[in-house]
Amino acid sequence: MAFGWKIGPIAEHQGEAIELVGLQPAQLDDPAVVEELNALWLRHGVIVFRGISDAATHVRLSRCFGECQLHPVRQINTEAEFPELTNVQYGPGNPNGSIYRVNGVERGAWLPLHFDLVYVDVVNHGGLLRPITIPETGGATLFLDKIALYDTLPDDMREEIGDLEILYRFSVELAQMRFGTDQVEKIVMGAKFVDIESRAHLFPRSIHPLVYAQAGSGRKMLNLSPWFADAIVGREDEAGDALLGRLCAHVQASPDIYAHRWREGDLVLWDNWRMLHGAEGVAPDASRWLQRTTITGDYALGRLETHEVASDELRTVDV
Ligand SMILES: [Fe+2]
Repeated sequence: MAFGWKIGPIAEHQGEAIELVGLQPAQLDDPAVVEELNALWLRHGVIVFRGISDAATHVRLSRCFGECQLHPVRQINTEAEFPELTNVQYGPGNPNGSIYRVNGVERGAWLPLHFDLVYVDVVNHGGLLRPITIPETGGATLFLDKIALYDTLPDDMREEIGDLEILYRFSVELAQMRFGTDQVEKIVMGAKFVDIESRAHLFPRSIHPLVYAQAGSGRKMLNLSPWFADAIVGREDEAGDALLGRLCAHVQASPDIYAHRWREGDLVLWDNWRMLHGAEGVAPDASRWLQRTTITGDYALGRLETHEVASDELRTVDV
């Protein structure tokens, strides 16, 4: 209680994510507080701050973890006072909303498990989400710890994959994921996704290591995003695809997924270098609105397959 807040496990989850209650905005000027919050971020991967519901504290807290990315088009979907904030918004009449039938159920704003910017070389450090409009049912944000994913692999699998690298190809055609394990059918794709998908073939593939160790702890993680996964480097054949399919199935069937069900006053921070995330989705006629900030940075392990085509546009895509 040295900092006056209370931390503890998440009641609905057995993993390392924590909730933190009692943080006061005035504390955020204290370097010792900032240092402790960063240590908790590294150790736990996800922190659910309770009782913070204003944009100013959202942005102020975000800055404790690094430089925030500014929205590339400030005047669109952004509050002018806080260019760090972007809107994650779904609802009737929003032209950017996508609807898919997933395992027989229609869902708006559904997103498969991924880590942000896996489809380019530079991977940002994390994000913070805060709800504005919470749907009556559904709408959870999903988190999955890549350290737990590695720890739960069979021993022989761990030995087989230690030096592999994965190729990722950008696409928001969720019904055409190469290694998705859900039954997915497109009903409608949002306008901004239609636009970028029309140029998806222009972007080079990215390459990321399949296994790497967390800086600061040395703990290994299964660094695999099922969404965008395209192939194993040097093994673009049937056997390679079969292995990648088994690994993606291991991710998507994990019992360690944490479904964060939003409550007013929640502000959730995650480590994008360690956690996968996704969106459970909502009923097609429901509304859901979150605001997010993004902590810049790079884990410095990614590269592009070819530099022939610039992919700067992709670096600012929010999915
Ligand atoms: Fe994302």
